[in-house]
Amino acid sequence: KKENPEYVIGFSQCVGNDLWRKTMLEEVKMELSLHPGAKLVYTDANGNSKTQAQQVKQMVNQGVDLLIISPNEAMPLTPVVEQTYNKGIPVIIIDRKTSSNLYTAYVGADNYQVGKMAGEYAASALKGKGNIVEIMGLPGSSPAIERQRGFADGIKKFNDIHITAQLYGDWLKNNAEQELLKARTSLQTADVIFAHNDVMAAGAKNVISKLKLNRPIKIIGIDALPGNGGGLQMVSGKVLDASVLYPTGGKEAVVTAFRILNKESFSKDNILQSLVIDSANVQLMKLQWSKISSQQKDIERQQSLLAEQEVLFRNQQMVLNITVIT
Ligand code: FRU
Repeated sequence: KKENPEYVIGFSQCVGNDLWRKTMLEEVKMELSLHPGAKLVYTDANGNSKTQAQQVKQMVNQGVDLLIISPNEAMPLTPVVEQTYNKGIPVIIIDRKTSSNLYTAYVGADNYQVGKMAGEYAASALKGKGNIVEIMGLPGSSPAIERQRGFADGIKKFNDIHITAQLYGDWLKNNAEQELLKARTSLQTADVIFAHNDVMAAGAKNVISKLKLNRPIKIIGIDALPGNGGGLQMVSGKVLDASVLYPTGGKEAVVTAFRILNKESFSKDNILQSLVIDSANVQLMKLQWSKISSQQKDIERQQSLLAEQEVLFRNQQMVLNITVIT
């Protein structure tokens, strides 16, 4: 085993410009910085499955030692992921899946469970009776399919709970708002809006305020990101009633990547934990987060101090060599 092999890791992202995926990329880079010599090749398909398939092909042709991919939609990305895997290049699927089991490892939360937790939470918030409007993610993307199934199972045993409308917001705030406006009559009887992510949930909140509805509608989202504009802030600010934590897995994907590359043992399924965040535990979560991020800053400070020391040390060595020579 080489000390610091210069691995090239390809990372194909389906969309790059939302907070959740920016957080994922930050985590990836952070963990990669602990592996000097490794190189990251990053592409962003901007929500286009065709583009993503082409980007992966190109990446593989140019040569990567391992591919990390979050497939925009399952079906259109399945062939290229299978081809990559069959070439002997390890593939880590992160967050969204393909429709095949030809991949090396999966990293991410269990989206069926995430949906089910949201369903059980909704049922208890409704005390077993009421109407729900569901705003789903992009059709054909695996988390949308699995969250929908999980949610349905979460409310299944309650005969007096009904999903009165289902619409696709494609994971995007604007689309969610537009679709909900079109389906606005469903809001006349709605008690809960369940959105497959927090940005669409925030869009739903906007629509409710715009329409000046005078019935209390609880809003549940998914992601619960820390930081500015994230779900934790929206839950503590009462924009949302609850959000299911959906970790990005950026760090874990890179950890798994190096286990695979260094021929160490690894699991095929790396399921990350989630939990429901609401007013009861949001302060705790925020506190935990600020502690972690201050420790993170300490680590970064130590790293830059270390780098300064290294420069100093090298300069001293140089002076020493010159002294010895003369
Ligand atoms: C970000 C996102 C998240 C969601 C995930 C599902 O692009 O829409 O909000 O949880 O993708 O893949």
